Amino acid sequence: MHVFLQSRLVHADQARVSAFDHGFLYGDGIYETVRVYAETPFEWPAHDHRLRQSARHLSLACPWSSRYLLTAIERLLRADGRSEATVRLSVTRGPGPLGLDPALCRPSTLVIQSHPDRSLEALREKGVSMAIAECVRHPSPGSLDCRIKSTNSLSFVLAKMEARRRGVFETVLLNEAGRLTEGASSNLFFIRARTLHTPDVSCGLLPGITRRLVLGLAAAAGLRTLEGAYRPQDLLSADEIFLTNTTFEVLPVTELAWPGPRTGRRRRAVGRGRPGPYTQTLQALYRRRVLRRLARAGV
Ligand SMILES: Cc1ncc(COP(=O)(O)O)c(C=O)c1O
Repeated sequence: MHVFLQSRLVHADQARVSAFDHGFLYGDGIYETVRVYAETPFEWPAHDHRLRQSARHLSLACPWSSRYLLTAIERLLRADGRSEATVRLSVTRGPGPLGLDPALCRPSTLVIQSHPDRSLEALREKGVSMAIAECVRHPSPGSLDCRIKSTNSLSFVLAKMEARRRGVFETVLLNEAGRLTEGASSNLFFIRARTLHTPDVSCGLLPGITRRLVLGLAAAAGLRTLEGAYRPQDLLSADEIFLTNTTFEVLPVTELAWPGPRTGRRRRAVGRGRPGPYTQTLQALYRRRVLRRLARAGV
């Protein structure tokens, strides 16, 4: 297995980053996760754009061109013989003296890693369980721009730990005002009365690339869309709930652990306890979009 580090491919067990890298010391870094279908990174321009936008927000040097990064991804996948994979690109501040000040750090560190596609097909067909996390989503929109896809993921790590503890697949974090934001690694949607609802970006969430794509597919599924500030209780009257991210695609939620961690282990079925018809339609439309992109790329 290989890693693309800075400017070359190295064996994974020889991929070393400095102990003085501010990405390691202070979480001063950004990343992107990209899904590769048939050797082709899906939605690459959007990921490349978000990577640069995150870098700009942090005045973090990201001197690698889009073409350079694409070629690096291709080389990495070829070295490991992978055509279906998830690729993570991380850019950190690089090595520098101890202390927060990034001014003396250079150069930025680039790490590209891949792992084989972990098939989620069974979960997409059956659905997953979800709970509301106890921990609040950080950073909040008032403290740091939530559009930065930062390596600083502590509230999501806590939310993942809580998911494991409570025996659910994903937890959804609230903001300080008690409104729904997003999953530990996903965006949240629910459907009620032919309307597709999703928390508004102003609630404090990463505007996912899959989220945007799914909002764009809603009309073809016969759904209106509404972005708003929702309370956890709004999920109780939902006909359907699903999560999205680059690797989940459209992942149905069929069970809620409700209401909270301190009130026992009550579980409630979402709708009829199986993926609903609109969610299935959106799954099919998403797949069609992937296949169309591959056809356009000549795959
Ligand atoms: C916290 C969080 N929200 C949302 C998403 C979904 O983003 P995308 O659809 O761009 O993968 C992710 C992706 O990993 C995430 O980590």
